[in-house]
Amino acid sequence: MIAVTNVKGGVGKTTSAVYLAGAAVRSGRGPVLLVDADPQASSAEWLEEAPVSGVRLMEAPTARMVTRAMEAGSERIVIVDSPPGDEKTVRAVLERADAVVIPTRVGGPEPSRVRATLDMIAPGTRRGIVICAARTGTRDLDDTLRYWDDEGEAIWGVVPERVAIAAASGAPLSIVGLVHYENVLIESLERSRKRAAAR
Ligand SMILES: Nc1ncnc2c1ncn2[C@@H]1O[C@H](COP(=O)(O)OP(=O)(O)O)[C@@H](O)[C@H]1O
Ligand SMILES: [Mg+2]
Repeated sequence: MIAVTNVKGGVGKTTSAVYLAGAAVRSGRGPVLLVDADPQASSAEWLEEAPVSGVRLMEAPTARMVTRAMEAGSERIVIVDSPPGDEKTVRAVLERADAVVIPTRVGGPEPSRVRATLDMIAPGTRRGIVICAARTGTRDLDDTLRYWDDEGEAIWGVVPERVAIAAASGAPLSIVGLVHYENVLIESLERSRKRAAAR
């Protein structure tokens, strides 16, 4: 199970969760269960407007519901879109995660929110940061990448800022987004596979 988590809102969780699901199906790794644990139901609305074949959506906006949803899926890949605030639900998701994708952005208060998220992840659970809506070639991006590298955190992806990737458009997923998120998916699966092999 791949959790897409950051205690902060508006960083790219829903976009990452939907694109990871789309990338999994597109690369023949499906079917996918996408669990929407955010009461705002952004993933659910997105997939209602623009369904992705091979991706089943379950809305599970409480800790109890998300726990049940994560156990119920028979799909090969389960991806959970976490809520920003609700700590109980976030913990329920992180407890069962094989890998945690942490979407974030460049600059400002972002590192402290990522740190708060990292601190909730059990030691030994693989995790990687994805920089969302990145302005490639900028100094700020370079500084952010260097910062996380110095902190010893893995960067699983840098997804450029693109109108075509923006959420809730109701449009089909963009190829450029799918390609970027397929790489993130491979990182997260690779890590969980290695972890499973090490056990
Ligand atoms: N790569 C990207 N390029 C452009 N806009 C993006 C990108 N990733 C995310 N966004 C936009 O950022 C905003 C927040 O993203 P969202 O996935 O809803 O975050 P969260 O689920 O963390 O609240 C949305 O408007 C979304 O369209
Ligand atoms: Mg969201």
